Amino acid sequence: MVTETPATRPANPRFSSGPCAKIPTFSLDKLNDAALGRSHRAAVGKAKLKAAIETTREILGIPADYKIGIVPASDTGAVEMAMWSMLGARGVEMLAWESFGAGWVSDVVKQLKLDATVREAPYGEIVDFAQVDFDKDVVFTWNGTTSGVRVPNGDAIPADRDGLTICDATSAAFAMDLPWDKLDVTTFSWQKVMGGEAAHGMLILSPRAVERLENYTPAWPLPKIFRMTKGGKLIDGIFEGATINTPSMLAVEDYLIALDWAKSIGGLPALIARADANAKAIFDFCETRDWIDNLAVDPATRSNTSVCLKFTDDRIADGAAFAKAVAKRLEGEGVALDIGAYRDAPAGLRIWCGATVETADIDALLPWLEWAFEAEIAAQG
Ligand SMILES: Cc1ncc(COP(=O)(O)O)c(C=O)c1O
Repeated sequence: MVTETPATRPANPRFSSGPCAKIPTFSLDKLNDAALGRSHRAAVGKAKLKAAIETTREILGIPADYKIGIVPASDTGAVEMAMWSMLGARGVEMLAWESFGAGWVSDVVKQLKLDATVREAPYGEIVDFAQVDFDKDVVFTWNGTTSGVRVPNGDAIPADRDGLTICDATSAAFAMDLPWDKLDVTTFSWQKVMGGEAAHGMLILSPRAVERLENYTPAWPLPKIFRMTKGGKLIDGIFEGATINTPSMLAVEDYLIALDWAKSIGGLPALIARADANAKAIFDFCETRDWIDNLAVDPATRSNTSVCLKFTDDRIADGAAFAKAVAKRLEGEGVALDIGAYRDAPAGLRIWCGATVETADIDALLPWLEWAFEAEIAAQG
């Protein structure tokens, strides 16, 4: 039984799953070089947008023949652009195992009204990729941010598929190895693993995705912010920093400094190692406690970014109220902000472990978690 408050507090209590903690070296004066008050179409603005694209390519190891665009409306904008521009050309399979994936299912079935095969798994589990027909277009989320369940690897996706894979990788990019040869459309936003600012989406297209765009016109109208082709040709400028509409140059600068930090610590392997170390600290903690467990049933699918936890103690009377009270107690102590489970997810906690979080802060948080758990059990009476 733990009653004393732990001696050490996390230096940074920000464990939100988006916007996520800023890079450890962040300070506002690092943004001094931002092209503020300048046109994004002037040479200085365009060069920064292009640098954001090319440094992303370098760090993530994106092949030279893939296109990378900065698009409106964050990750949602990028996913919607892809689905509305490319789907309908052939059969569609929609895969979902948590809230965001379910949102894409609903869009395709209810808004685009496509007769898609829908494969869903409950929170904590994942759909069986072996059943999926990759000769259809397949839409899925690499890391389910609200369930903490991720695709373990791309092995189940055939290299010689006929369909396109459209992958929402917003809480995976920069923390997990993404197999570019298996992904035709990949999306993410800046405020996740890189701790950037929310505004723009990144849209990454394989040559086959570009081919689809240039050879298929959907039956429905497309608003200007979704349009990537003109006269049957890809608008190349979008993928060279000539954005469709006006971007935030402050957000661009902030992303650039996060990319610089990523390079300075050793690039993608170092980013992945940081997320892995953070997540492992939590996995090890759960391993030696019988009152808390990972929501992900199969250890191979456990996220190393959005780690979702459930309380398993029989003494808990009301699971949802209990989890909320633990999160509130930790927030009240200033040791963990925003760690309640997502509103549609099962009751529990979600602790962001992406690269901008320091392992020392996770280590400092865990004794507090034990303290808050014991305090809430005692408070139940
Ligand atoms: C898997 C996933 N998809 C989409 C989104 C929506 O992202 P955005 O707010 O960048 O549009 C989120 C946000 O957390 C997410 O986790």
